[in-house]
Amino acid sequence: MISTSAATRGSVTLKRVSPQLLQSFNGLSTLSPSLSSLVVVQHIQPITCRRNFSFTSTNPKIHEFFPQKETEKVRKTEPAWPHPMYTEEQMRSVEVAHREAKTYSDKVALLAVKLLRWGLDIATGYKHEHAAAKHKGDLAAAKKYAMTEEKYMIRNVFLESVAGVPGMVAGMLRHLHSMRRMKRDNGWIETLLEESFNERMHLLTFLKMSEPGLFMRTMVLGAQGVWFNALFIAYLMSPRTVHRFVGYLEEEAVITYTRQINDIEAGRLPKWEKLEAPQIAIDYWKMPEGNRTMKDLLLYIRADESKHREVNHTLGNLDQKNDPNPYVSEYKLSQAQQPHPTKDLAFPRPVGWERKDII
Ligand SMILES: [Fe+2]
Ligand SMILES: [Fe+2]
Repeated sequence: MISTSAATRGSVTLKRVSPQLLQSFNGLSTLSPSLSSLVVVQHIQPITCRRNFSFTSTNPKIHEFFPQKETEKVRKTEPAWPHPMYTEEQMRSVEVAHREAKTYSDKVALLAVKLLRWGLDIATGYKHEHAAAKHKGDLAAAKKYAMTEEKYMIRNVFLESVAGVPGMVAGMLRHLHSMRRMKRDNGWIETLLEESFNERMHLLTFLKMSEPGLFMRTMVLGAQGVWFNALFIAYLMSPRTVHRFVGYLEEEAVITYTRQINDIEAGRLPKWEKLEAPQIAIDYWKMPEGNRTMKDLLLYIRADESKHREVNHTLGNLDQKNDPNPYVSEYKLSQAQQPHPTKDLAFPRPVGWERKDII
C-alpha cells in the first residue's frame, strides 16, 4: 500500500509534497504493520470540501466525483457480479492471521512481501512503529507520526488502485491459457476476475470520499505500469507463488483495515465517526439501514480482504493446471455436509483450505 502526506490543508502543492513524500509512505501499512510502507504520495483532496476533509459536521455530505451519466433510456446499471451477503457477526469475527511459509515457493512469496516493505521503508525513511516506540510519551512526536483520516484515505486509495491488478492478470492469463491449450479452466477465471472487480469497487468507494490530485494520479499510473508487468511475468513463471504472494499481501490488508476500525472505535479518527458511506457502497454491499457509517464500510471491506486472503492461499495450495476452483464447485453429498469453501463468510479459513480437505 502506499500512502502519502495527506492533504490536510487542502491543496497541497507538489513542492510541498516532495520532502514529505518519503515520510508519508507509511502506506504499506495497508500492507501491514509489516508492509506498512509501500507508499506514496500525496495530493488527495477530499471531495466534500476543497479545504479539508470536512466530514466533521453532523450530516456530512458526499460529493459526486464521477456522477452516473444519465441517458435517455437506461434507468440503472447493476453490478454484473452481485456481492455475497455478510452478517455483522461474520464481519466482526474477521481476524488478523498469518499462514506459515512451509514450502520453498511460500518462502519466496513471503520474502517478496517483506522485501517490498523493507525497500519502501528504506527508500522513504518511514518507520511508523519504530518512531512511535522511540518517542513514547512525546506528545509532539505522537501527533507527527499518528495516522489521520487523510493519511489513511490516501493510503487506501493507492492500495486499492494496485490491489485490483493481480486478479485481472491471473484471470487474463488463465483465459489465454485455456484457449491456447484448448482445455477447460475449471472455474478459476471468474473468481479471479471477480476479485479484481471487488477491489475496483473498493477504490471507487474511496474515490467517492476523496479526490486524488495530479501527483497521486501519476503515482498510480506509474505503479500500475510496473506492477502489472511484474505480475504478468511472475504469473507465467509460477502462478502458485503469485497466489501465495497475494495471500500474504491480503494478510497485510486485513491488518491495515483492522487498525482503521480500531482507531475509529478508540476515538482517534473523529472525522470518520459520523461519516456516511457513499451510495455506491450502500448499493454494492446492500448495507442495511442503520449500518451505513464509515466504520460499517470498513468492516465490509476488511471482510472482502479476508476472503481474498483465504481464496489466494487456497488457490496456492492447489494443482494449478488440473484442480477445479473450490469456490464455485458443488460438492458431493458427504463433503457438502462438511465445512467447505464458499464465496461468502459461512466457513472462514484465514490461512486457506488444504487441498486434501477439499479436492
Ligand atoms: Fe481492497
Ligand atoms: Fe484484497
